[in-house]
Amino acid sequence: MDEAWTGLYGYFTELIARKRRAPGPDLFSTLTQDSGSSSGQEDAGSSSAQEGGLDDGELLAMAFLLLFAGYETTMNLLASASLLLLTHPDELAAARRDPARWPAVVEETLRHASPLEGTTWRHTTEEVDLGEGVVIPTGASVLAVLAAANRDPRHFPDPDTFRPGRHLPDGTPTPEGTRTAPHAAFGHGPHFCVGSRLARLEATIALPRLLTAFPTLHLTADPTQLPYRPGLLVRGPRRLPVSV
Ligand code: HEM
Repeated sequence: MDEAWTGLYGYFTELIARKRRAPGPDLFSTLTQDSGSSSGQEDAGSSSAQEGGLDDGELLAMAFLLLFAGYETTMNLLASASLLLLTHPDELAAARRDPARWPAVVEETLRHASPLEGTTWRHTTEEVDLGEGVVIPTGASVLAVLAAANRDPRHFPDPDTFRPGRHLPDGTPTPEGTRTAPHAAFGHGPHFCVGSRLARLEATIALPRLLTAFPTLHLTADPTQLPYRPGLLVRGPRRLPVSV
């Protein structure tokens, strides 16, 4: 792991230098060109985004963030959606018949198998009263569990059931009489996922392609025995053995 980490660090450091020298029409070039400092400069503004952009350390952090936030999450979305479809043949057949259902499949996977189970840590700067006797004191560390919010029965009737139809206009109404609530799989507020549109686009392209290219795709393992990733943050099966 150390070797891989050092290699990736070296690769990104080289990439930043290269994009500064010869920028292209890509996202990373834009980030380097917006940057207020360049390698080796020690001016007062070099570590502050407020002074005109990202410094080298911030760019490196951004490269790692984009890679991990953009890869692990979408990978788990694709794995979980494939698993849910292969274990819900009626839903798979419905999406194959009517391609307009694919976005609903993606939304329901995000809700039911939220790839990020929680947000990053929050720290309260003042007391927060959540009502019903729950008060978070000042200076507390808080982990908001998105996966729990996404299975809240007050907003998602029959929350443990995978039912893409709930995201369609004719989906089962919630007790308040409205359509199902929007899920919280991409977070909420100022840190709402910057990659949400890209992630949705990737999944609505990849899933129909996969399941059209392999019409007989099926699981070769007991879905209840699949090993899941450990930890509190990222959710998804470690492996998804299939055959065609
Ligand atoms: C299924 C796919 C994805 C899921 C479920 C997801 C989920 C999330 C969530 C829940 C947050 C908020 C974290 C928090 O509040 O602490 C977040 C933030 C973020 N996501 Fe995603 N994400 C996905 C895909 C992507 C992609 C494809 C990219 C970029 C290419 C991306 C880049 C980011 C970045 C940079 C942030 C930090 C935003 C900020 O702090 O202002 N994500 N994501």
